[in-house]
Amino acid sequence: MAKSPSFSCSACGAVHSKWSGRCEACGEWNTIVEDTPLSAGPATASLGSKRGRALPLTDLNTRAAPPPRTMSGIEELDRVLGGGLVDGSAILVGGDPGIGKSTLLLQATAHFASQGLGTLYISGEEAVAQVQMRARRLGLAEAPVQLAAATDLRDILTTLDEVKPRLAVIDSIQTLWSDQVGSAPGSVSQVRAAAHELTAFAKRRGVSVILVGHVTKDGQIAGPRVVEHMVDTVLYFEGERAHQFRILRAVKNRFGPADEIGVFEMTGRGLEEVRNPSALFLSGRGQPAAGSVVFAGIEGTRPVLVELQALVAPTPQAQPRRTVVGWDGGRLAMILAVLEARCGIPFTGLDVYLNVAGGLKISEPAADLAVAAALLSAREDVALPAETVVFGEISLSGALRPASQTENRLKEARKLGFSQAIAPSAGKTPLDGAITVTVPADLASFVGETFGAG
Ligand code: TYD
Ligand code: MG
Repeated sequence: MAKSPSFSCSACGAVHSKWSGRCEACGEWNTIVEDTPLSAGPATASLGSKRGRALPLTDLNTRAAPPPRTMSGIEELDRVLGGGLVDGSAILVGGDPGIGKSTLLLQATAHFASQGLGTLYISGEEAVAQVQMRARRLGLAEAPVQLAAATDLRDILTTLDEVKPRLAVIDSIQTLWSDQVGSAPGSVSQVRAAAHELTAFAKRRGVSVILVGHVTKDGQIAGPRVVEHMVDTVLYFEGERAHQFRILRAVKNRFGPADEIGVFEMTGRGLEEVRNPSALFLSGRGQPAAGSVVFAGIEGTRPVLVELQALVAPTPQAQPRRTVVGWDGGRLAMILAVLEARCGIPFTGLDVYLNVAGGLKISEPAADLAVAAALLSAREDVALPAETVVFGEISLSGALRPASQTENRLKEARKLGFSQAIAPSAGKTPLDGAITVTVPADLASFVGETFGAG
């Protein structure tokens, strides 16, 4: 009996029984493509009449030894992985084309190989000679990495089976192709089948697999997000092409904290680790200027200081502009509304631009107060006192809520030479000797004390 075709959304991976112009699951237009059902491929066992075997069961109390890990020696990478590479784990590294994924992974494989981990690098995008040329440029040509250029999934699995490496890097998942699936490379079903086969292989043989995935402009890994569900760890490599900073961010990690970041700098000799990101993000900052505020943030387990820049200017447009880079646009609208409703400071007739310097993306609500400070400082054309950091969450009522890890934020600020902080505090004022903390009662009193307005 011929199976009826199935369809899936290339943005969110939802499966549909018929084609339509818009995916009901995620609301994207023109993302639904015809699919060869996975059950036709090798990925799922056919149920049929064959009886399965009974599974070995255990209880909740049996303590398994922690999984063995290997350190690459690239500290920023090891930390993002949750303390090194776990044996037999499947990792997805996503990012824009050209951001530096291949460079990062070539450096990582060379490091892992030099630690004695049998390592295989399979490139589906570049020829062997191209990868070798890059390795020479990066000074890694002597590393004991085994290299191949291939796209056929069957060949790759056979090679892994014979060579038995401990780590295999597949660059990229979108180039892989299986003859069991009747659609083009890069299609949802091809990517899904390849990812499934490779992660299953990783689990079965205790081989770690790192899959590289390109991301589409709307921030999703092209084709299926289903890959994210299959792997243990999802890392995104972010940054602006125009900036030299690159941030490796764990958005999912079964073996460590999510939201951990590693900071790198793209140089002529590849990616170099940035051990002190605060110094990097603040470098190039001159005299205190109106609209510029330093936010003491926490990224993963690390405090990071970043500069927020705001520009507020009158506009002839009926609908003023609200432009944000590196922060959430909805959150900006909320803070503008709270400033207007609770402090009587309107932004009507004013264009508002907000930028997080250095290409970092911030998602912490603790940045609220720093954003409000930058907006007010730009609007009133008053610079904040020099050597001041700001942090704290703003609620809709105009109350201020203390941020987590206040001590760590203050410590980092002091380390970088800041002498003052403005931050709401939980109970006791965390005075820290060398740093003076001003604790505003609420947003309105912050506005009054700092800008004499409101
Ligand atoms: P690449 O790793 O090929 O990106 P991806 O695999 O994510 O598509 O990196 C491409 C960019 O990195 C390219 O524009 C050149 C730059 N680059 C350097 O600046 N220095 C280097 O040492 C290398 C290898 C690349
Ligand atoms: Mg590449």
